[in-house]
Amino acid sequence: PRDLRELAQQTGIRIGTAVDVASLRDEADYRKVLNREFSHVTAENAMKWESVEPERGTYTWQDADAVVANALRHDQKIRGHNLVWHNQLPAWLTTGVENGTIGDAELRDILRDHIMTEARRYRGKIRAWDVVNEVVDDDGNLRQSIWLTHLGPGYIADAFRWAHRADPHAKLYLNDYNIEWNTAKIETTYTLIKDLKAQGVPIHGIGFQGHLGIQYDYPGDWPAVMRRFADLGLEVAVTEMDVRMVLPVTPEKLATQADYYRRALSGCLSVSACREFTVWGFTDRHSWVPGWFDGEGAACLFDENYAPKPAYQALLSVKRG
Ligand code: G3I
Repeated sequence: PRDLRELAQQTGIRIGTAVDVASLRDEADYRKVLNREFSHVTAENAMKWESVEPERGTYTWQDADAVVANALRHDQKIRGHNLVWHNQLPAWLTTGVENGTIGDAELRDILRDHIMTEARRYRGKIRAWDVVNEVVDDDGNLRQSIWLTHLGPGYIADAFRWAHRADPHAKLYLNDYNIEWNTAKIETTYTLIKDLKAQGVPIHGIGFQGHLGIQYDYPGDWPAVMRRFADLGLEVAVTEMDVRMVLPVTPEKLATQADYYRRALSGCLSVSACREFTVWGFTDRHSWVPGWFDGEGAACLFDENYAPKPAYQALLSVKRG
């Protein structure tokens, strides 16, 4: 294959990336690579609650709309990210809950309105929604959040039902990190989804974020975990893949990184329910990694100047089966 779009076509999945709106607007090189290589996109921040409703009742859809419009122009499917999360909530919401001016019943109405407003706005345009993001913690407990504390565990089922009502054709996902390997987290997530399904809750997919680092062993059980969830009747996706490293970059580290990307894509392709392989940014020029992990970076397929790295070539070499 000539590029990732062609690879995607040949293997029958979609290969996607997170999109940074500022770069989409300001950088022609960014747009060129984005639209040449990718057939699926996720807004990196633009669809999050703090982005779309920074003041109560004041909606700012421009950035999210820009991602959607660019995608529709370039035959890219869209993952909506996300409807319920504990991060990047607007300040009016978190302060209101903290100081008690927003009570529990009102909070539930606010959550419902948020989900339905956003999912309805993009109805028919979103292939898959991350309805709930990161709702289990690393110890295998439901994550402490304003949602769990004030609404109880039922908020998860409610969120899927509301999203389904607002956009009946979108695939509705639970999305999380470390479920590539963390047994406690995997078991709790598995039981949670099994219970949701048993209650008839409209949940259709599980997203494995896939934030890896070469200083850790590759999670070799990942395809088996995918299969286990697929056997519950779920679609599977890799939703936020990246492979960071401790800087400086060396040829050896780039080779290991390439191998991690290659194994991840092969793993996805070995599971028939795996439909999407999305990276969390495609260029080291714009990546969340250096800002979050001191001394780490270089996690993407392209370097700061949009030159393809060994990881990119490694993906192109992957075949189905
Ligand atoms: O927009 C403000 C800007 O006005 C301000 O000047 C600047 C100063 O710090 O901050 C800007 O906001 C930043 C925002 O990204 C937009 O760039 C936030 O500080 C920063 O915290 C935020 O980080 C995002 C992070 O989620 C927040 O939790 C990353 O870009 C984004 O890549 C990351 O994505 C998450 C997924 O949604 C869920 N899974 C994990 C993944 C990586 O953390």
